[in-house]
Amino acid sequence: MTAEGRRGLAIIGGGKIGEALLSGLVRRGGPDGLLVCERSPDRAAQLSERYGVPAFDLGGAAARARVLLLAVKPQDIDVLLGRLAEFVDDGHLVVSVAAGVPTARIEAALPAGVPVVRVMPNTPALVDEGMSVLSAGAHAGEADLDEAEALLAAVGRVRRVPESQQDAVTALSGSGPAYFFFLVEAMVDAGILLGLPRALAADLIVQTALGAAVMMRDTGEHPVQLREAVTSPGGTTIAAIRELERHGVRAALIAAIEAAHARSVELGAGQS
Ligand SMILES: NC(=O)c1ccc[n+]([C@@H]2O[C@H](COP(=O)([O-])OP(=O)(O)OC[C@H]3O[C@@H](n4cnc5c(N)ncnc54)[C@H](OP(=O)(O)O)[C@@H]3O)[C@@H](O)[C@H]2O)c1
Repeated sequence: MTAEGRRGLAIIGGGKIGEALLSGLVRRGGPDGLLVCERSPDRAAQLSERYGVPAFDLGGAAARARVLLLAVKPQDIDVLLGRLAEFVDDGHLVVSVAAGVPTARIEAALPAGVPVVRVMPNTPALVDEGMSVLSAGAHAGEADLDEAEALLAAVGRVRRVPESQQDAVTALSGSGPAYFFFLVEAMVDAGILLGLPRALAADLIVQTALGAAVMMRDTGEHPVQLREAVTSPGGTTIAAIRELERHGVRAALIAAIEAAHARSVELGAGQS
């Protein structure tokens, strides 16, 4: 098939993130123009059946699709690129969600001039509330970023940053869901300490987390203003805030995110 005959998107690697993107795209626009490429034939058949999209091998996928979305683990990307190189040209757009893998490494493994966009997604993409952050490689222009953004918008919000900020993004929004899960877990434990049934405590806290998140997103107010609005003089909230400060929770969060950033830099440099 010629470059002009290519259309649509191939998802290469149909694991958790690949399937989240596939399901979001099918929900938004139907299966037309989508295809998958999966190492495991059983998994390929499962995705084909579940979403009504065809499955191809790498050569077949690259011959048909203009956009190739690489959703394999970082440790599998070099082998994948080695196999993909012979099927790719500068008429493709390669979008990679592999955490910590620089665009320069992808470009170096592919023929010269292939546009590459790197994305840091996160797992709330599974429920269409993802935060995806894009960076252009050396050969990707605004139109390529627009195209990648339109894809990722199927599963949540999208922002663009220079690639030099991707390690910080990984530490904030990439790993971020885990910090919120950890906080919720601790707050549910507190409910149990106070004698509430676990299921009730979880219900209260999860809905409170959701409500607080929607308020932050939709009111446009600063978190400090929103917190002050529920912190009345001599009240319950200020008693809790004093304990959070006394136990250094703010400093702990800053140190934790700094550690995640350092680890992302290490992984990007190829240290295991
Ligand atoms: N999950 C997250 O929270 C998250 C967040 C941000 C970024 N990411 C990034 O997203 C990428 C995918 O993560 P994931 O959690 O979705 O991983 P995953 O569930 O392991 O999915 C990867 C899939 O790709 C398949 N695969 C590997 N090599 C292949 C090849 N050469 N051709 C076709 N398929 C191939 C794997 O098959 P096998 O099962 O046979 O290995 C697997 O089904 C990673 O690079 C990760 O850094 C993930």
